[in-house]
Amino acid sequence: MSTYEVIIYEKRDSVGYITLNRPKALNAYNICMRDELYEVLGAIRDDTEVKVTILKGSGQKAFCAGADLTEFLTAPPPIFARKARFDRDIWGRFLSIQKPFIAALHGYVLGSGIEMSLCCDIRLASDDAQFGLPEVGLGIIPAAGGSQTLPRTVGVSNAYDLLLSGRWINADEARRMKLINLVLPQKELLTEAQRLADVMKELNPIALSCAKQAINRGLDLSLEEGLSLEKRLGSRL
Ligand code: COA
Repeated sequence: MSTYEVIIYEKRDSVGYITLNRPKALNAYNICMRDELYEVLGAIRDDTEVKVTILKGSGQKAFCAGADLTEFLTAPPPIFARKARFDRDIWGRFLSIQKPFIAALHGYVLGSGIEMSLCCDIRLASDDAQFGLPEVGLGIIPAAGGSQTLPRTVGVSNAYDLLLSGRWINADEARRMKLINLVLPQKELLTEAQRLADVMKELNPIALSCAKQAINRGLDLSLEEGLSLEKRLGSRL
């Protein structure tokens, strides 16, 4: 187990576990978390023993209550913070990893909490989960890829609805919007994430990687180009 300051990283039986670990601040995403996630994502990408990763939050109340508002309201000015984010390109790194990620979501899933989960391939949520994107109400827009990953996941109408209204939705509505794959009782959340990870870790990692690439890269292509991509990836197998 590698312990960082605000996340915990564990590796067991080919499965990586990242736990956002600021329960007293509802796992709010701060600069330290950004740096530690960047590092751990690089390690997961390069570690051939890790076949699949589960991302979860510590404590009872939240997966992640969004960006840390104490940092947001103080220095560094947003323009520098934003530049630092782009320099690190954590979300580019997250989305480029060709191994499966499963998000296990509970409690508050707000702002960058939703965005982090959108970098994962499968999203499971417990029935107490609440989702919202408060950014526009704070005078900003999502900075963790959400303006792009959200409409690709839930469609344009639902993305406008969530982002422009800032309204919160519960797990059942999130499921209907296809923001999440499955709603579970809270005590079954991690068991189900583990069960899925156990299934995926036994699959051919190259097939998993190609399937992920075919979907992710294909979304930005015409049907014709997408079919050609599928053919190229398929021929590798
Ligand atoms: N950044 C920094 N700290 C946060 C935080 C955030 N985004 N969200 C919660 N916290 C902290 C609170 O300040 C509080 O700290 P304290 O115990 O030292 O006072 C602690 O987490 C618990 O939060 P609290 O507000 O007491 O819990 P609650 O259950 O009453 O309310 C929320 C939960 C999520 C409704 C409320 O904390 C909230 O609105 N947070 C901000 C959400 C947000 O706008 N995020 C930014 C998205 S861009």
